[in-house]
Amino acid sequence: MDKLVVANFKMNGSKDFYKATIKTLCKEKLLDTKLILCPPFVYLPYIKIRKNDAISLGSQNIASQIDGKSTGETSPEMLKAFDVKYTIIGHSERRALGETDDLIANKVKLCLDNNIIPIICVGEEKKTKTSFDMIIRQVKTALLYIKDKDYVPLFAYEPLFSIGSGKVCDNDHINKAVNLIERTALESGFKTKILYGGSVNETNYKSILKECNISGLLIGGLSLKVDKFRELLKGINNG
Ligand code: PGA
Repeated sequence: MDKLVVANFKMNGSKDFYKATIKTLCKEKLLDTKLILCPPFVYLPYIKIRKNDAISLGSQNIASQIDGKSTGETSPEMLKAFDVKYTIIGHSERRALGETDDLIANKVKLCLDNNIIPIICVGEEKKTKTSFDMIIRQVKTALLYIKDKDYVPLFAYEPLFSIGSGKVCDNDHINKAVNLIERTALESGFKTKILYGGSVNETNYKSILKECNISGLLIGGLSLKVDKFRELLKGINNG
């Protein structure tokens, strides 16, 4: 099965960075990998994916409702005008700004109503006895408005203690969380695909992909280092 690699560039880069990076990445021969590039909104107009069916564009956020009075928000139609096929929803950095589980459920619905694939981020803050309750709540709420039970939602498990910390989560813990996400979604009637994200680098990705029951990776920091990011892509292709 194809592995998904999502590059979350966050609020980084410049027009020139994206033009050059995307040109370079489009030359990659991606055999068993699908790459989803999520730049900041303002750079979408400068990005042209050329001759590479394995690469798609994603956004880092989307509005939660269609309402012309939503100052500062971006609608699905606006994103689709720039060929955006995916959007990251509920990233912990957005949850930290006040995004609630309910708001995230509305964003998921808006994506599905508009043929955009949501990448739904879930993850606990710390490893405590009750921390997995947070994941259960996040998963259940995110699925609330999906009516089509044949739809396979795409989740990204991103423990907050790993994001941007340089400390990747251990593989046993990833598997436990992934298993929990799977079981919780199944209770709501859905099969799932699950990515892992949090301090993935050009070395640790190998054991994560080998030992964890995941469909791919969500990558932040490493996506800004084009050479190392390409190393990872090549490694996945050859592995
Ligand atoms: P990181 O970010 O790879 O820099 O830890 C992952 C993310 O925030 O999605």
